Amino acid sequence: MIDFRSDTVTKPSAEMLQAMIHAELGDDVYGDDPSVNALEARMAKMSGFAAAMIVNSGTQSNLCALLAHCQRGEEYIVGQGYHTYLYEAGGAAVLGSVVPQPIAVQTSGELAFADIAAVIKEDDSHFAKSTLLSLENSHCGKVIPLDYFAKARNFAIQHKLKIHLDGARIFNALTAINLQLKDICQYVDSISICFSKGLGTPMGSVLCGSQEFINRARRIRKMVGGGTRQAGIIAKAMDYALDHNIDRLQIDHANAVLLADLLKENNKLTITTPQTNMVYIDLDASIDGTLLAKLLLAQGIQISAGQNLRLVTHLNISTADIIYTADTIKDCLQLF
Ligand SMILES: Cc1ncc(COP(=O)(O)O)c(C=O)c1O
Repeated sequence: MIDFRSDTVTKPSAEMLQAMIHAELGDDVYGDDPSVNALEARMAKMSGFAAAMIVNSGTQSNLCALLAHCQRGEEYIVGQGYHTYLYEAGGAAVLGSVVPQPIAVQTSGELAFADIAAVIKEDDSHFAKSTLLSLENSHCGKVIPLDYFAKARNFAIQHKLKIHLDGARIFNALTAINLQLKDICQYVDSISICFSKGLGTPMGSVLCGSQEFINRARRIRKMVGGGTRQAGIIAKAMDYALDHNIDRLQIDHANAVLLADLLKENNKLTITTPQTNMVYIDLDASIDGTLLAKLLLAQGIQISAGQNLRLVTHLNISTADIIYTADTIKDCLQLF
């Protein structure tokens, strides 16, 4: 099955599994798992932050960050379509009494500074206290450039806000603009990075920030049941991913462009050229998106059904798979 639903479907390779089998282990809740400690030190160094913490998932990482930055009755300003607002079951509000203040996301994936400024509350007992700006990069496959973060940093200082970056796919963004992790991290107060997407581990994220911030986040991680014991098994997979699965992201990006190029002549499809590993395809009303998904499934291609498709390339999809998929989609479209 060629699975385009998400890069979260990636399976650990035989080599990654070998690295996991040979992981040196301890008990991470006691802080003595050597593989976890090494991975956290490596991520702190790569990001330029003082500290890092392994977490089970991107959602847990973002939750720890939001609750470590904000007290009860404080608010974070966030994009309406950003993961930290829309797709995390309202965790910060439910579990931390932290108020989300969503605003529109621009087509570029950025938040407009005028929109942010318009919702920042003055210090008045009627209002929640504006404390944090929650950004995302990449967002829906779009890359937010470095100079946006430089501007965001100045803006945040001016308005006394902290910045958390949901960098679930930050290595995709960095690959596209040829930058290092530190380049972006210098402008934010914390970053969450997923390893279970394009980097191909079975689970795991890392949250990076100041030592004081990570100390607070560690307590919250424990509170939400995220303290794990022999987490070194996962840390070793993540360590393997850092060594082997970052440079190859450019293959996924090239495959996404190839798929878009092979299909874009078809006038029943509207396709934007992908910046990273996500191909967005809007189907003409004459095409039944649900039926198309069923037809493709019968040919060994799995997509999420709908009229606005998102096809995600990743390390379990080869260039040959892309060519086969484009040919098969073209064949199926003849039936509509
Ligand atoms: C932008 C973004 N942030 C955070 C997450 C959450 O990651 P997880 O599924 O590991 O909780 C996702 C998951 O798809 C995501 O796309």
